Amino acid sequence: MKIALIGATGLVGLTFLKVMKERNFPMTALIPVASTASHGKKIEFRGKEFEICSIEDALNSKPDVAFFTAGGEISREWALRFAARDILVVDNSSTWRMHPEVPLIIPEVNGSVLRANHRLIANPNCSTIQLLMVCSPLHQKYRIQRMVISTYQSVSGSGQKAMDQLSSERDGRHTGDKVYPHPIDLNCLPHCGAFDENGNTEEELKLIRETGKILDPTIKISATAVRVPVIGGHSESVNLQFDEEFDMHELRQTLNNCLGLIVLDDPDVNQYPMPLLAAEKDEVFVGRLRRDSSVKNGLNLWIVADNLRKGAATNAIQIAEFYFQEKLNR
Ligand SMILES: NC(=O)c1ccc[n+]([C@@H]2O[C@H](COP(=O)([O-])OP(=O)(O)OC[C@H]3O[C@@H](n4cnc5c(N)ncnc54)[C@H](OP(=O)(O)O)[C@@H]3O)[C@@H](O)[C@H]2O)c1
Repeated sequence: MKIALIGATGLVGLTFLKVMKERNFPMTALIPVASTASHGKKIEFRGKEFEICSIEDALNSKPDVAFFTAGGEISREWALRFAARDILVVDNSSTWRMHPEVPLIIPEVNGSVLRANHRLIANPNCSTIQLLMVCSPLHQKYRIQRMVISTYQSVSGSGQKAMDQLSSERDGRHTGDKVYPHPIDLNCLPHCGAFDENGNTEEELKLIRETGKILDPTIKISATAVRVPVIGGHSESVNLQFDEEFDMHELRQTLNNCLGLIVLDDPDVNQYPMPLLAAEKDEVFVGRLRRDSSVKNGLNLWIVADNLRKGAATNAIQIAEFYFQEKLNR
């Protein structure tokens, strides 16, 4: 397949290249796209060099698949134009996620929603993906009534410029564009995206709305998103309240049996998920599983994943793989 990668030079774009190589994604040609500042530069993939071009050139090259990972504005302007030419578009931005006709997909959770006539598919927010990889099997079994989520989101989740801000603060330069309104090194910002009129941030609303669309709109959700000075890997403290009673051993078994999940939970030997452990891994890690006896049928857990992989590139590539496999099976 001919693959257009819109945003090929970004943090997510470069992770796409790594993951496609590792998974031996069936690609015959790569069409890398970035901003005008990068046009003409070359990207190496599987020993060949590909020149970065404009998005118009990519559209005219008629790729089979276009992965969009260059921000919401580019997706708003271009995604439908690609889809209208029968190109499968998998979009990493938040632009199309809540559109009623655009499927929002985590293959392990709701891949069955995909149809052969879908041309534009949205990749959920990184924090939503890792949350629902764990909560979906628990919801199927015990019905989640309410979730309280606090995120600890790494700086790579805000793109290359945020990484530059962190490193310029760490080496004492404090130069360059500021992505965050305060220093991020040695700090925690309870502020991920713009605030709405009720004081919720964009990232908090994404967690609530996307969970409603993918899993169940009746689940009550309270979310607080926090940016922390970790380079890569998002962590989440999650409190769940179920309709049904649960047995802790059976609940662990349920999670142990899920593809793409790793239960790491042995406090006696200090074993629990951490961003450093999840780095460069495609799986979602869950641990600190314990009953919350302050409510009926309550559970506390801790979820960590590499936001550039399962939270972005890996999930988008899995969507394309799943789509073509299902199409072949029909
Ligand atoms: N970072 C994450 O963990 C994460 C997770 C899930 C989803 N996402 C989403 O993925 C997208 C990219 O995020 P990122 O972290 O990779 O950002 P990034 O590091 O800032 O990269 C942005 C990419 O977009 C390209 N670009 C910017 N303006 C462009 C234009 N006018 N035309 C074509 N390409 C343009 C940049 O090219 P140049 O190099 O030439 O500037 C670069 O390749 C965003 O929509 C983000 O919300 C990110």
